[in-house]
Amino acid sequence: MPTKTLPKHIAIIMDGNGRWAKAKGLPRVEGHRKGVEAAEEIITAVRELKIPYLTLYAFGTENWNRPAEEIQGLMLLLEHFLKTRQEKMLKNGIRFRTIGDTSKLPQNIGQLIAETSEITKNGKETTLILALSYSSRDEILRAVNRILLKPGTSNLEHRTITEKEFSQYLDTKDFPDPDLFIRTSGEYRISNYLLWQLSYTELYFTKTMWPDFTPQELMKALDEYAKRERRFGKTSEQL
Ligand code: IPE
Ligand code: IPE
Ligand code: MG
Repeated sequence: MPTKTLPKHIAIIMDGNGRWAKAKGLPRVEGHRKGVEAAEEIITAVRELKIPYLTLYAFGTENWNRPAEEIQGLMLLLEHFLKTRQEKMLKNGIRFRTIGDTSKLPQNIGQLIAETSEITKNGKETTLILALSYSSRDEILRAVNRILLKPGTSNLEHRTITEKEFSQYLDTKDFPDPDLFIRTSGEYRISNYLLWQLSYTELYFTKTMWPDFTPQELMKALDEYAKRERRFGKTSEQL
């Protein structure tokens, strides 16, 4: 493969599992099952490309409003993924992390998350970040509330805060902002995902449903990314 500019951090909205299943006359949860398989292939491809960060939107705050049966199916898949992939992640140098309000997740999953994060904490290849019970507005509000509740910040009228400082209160404080955003399934929206962090991210949309999103499809997104000129508000001549 010729050398090209690769992103350091890819953030994906894995969308279209339900429609993929429906088109095949299968229950929605089958779409999610295939979606996990697709995610595993993408995680491997990202690691092989030596891309240091991958964030996957796996369950949004608003997804708690789905039918109980679907939520249960998703939680079981998540539990299975964590239980069966812990060792593989460790072996492959994947550092596992999450963003989102994981206190809302079932207790056993909370424990598995803590365990997997701890076991894989020295992984040097790729940091895999799962967004779980995550929404950007919720993250921003939790950050604001942490600032308000911080001991010694009673005189708030006289306090200002910088972008850099604020970022340190977000769930993503340990990670760089995404360079490339991908959303599958032909929906052209952000759906409460990383609103602060995506400010200067290159956006890529594809009609492919997530279960059909292969490493080849990822390569297409990376080719497109390599062609983009990121100006960060400057002119082309300044770059
Ligand atoms: C994305 O697929 C997975 C989750 C939101 C958990 P969807 O379940 O949203 O699939 P569609 O959009 O209904 O096809
Ligand atoms: C976003 O997809 C959340 C995840 C992929 C986990 P949704 O399918 O929930 O988003 P909307 O409802 O189409 O905006
Ligand atoms: Mg969807």
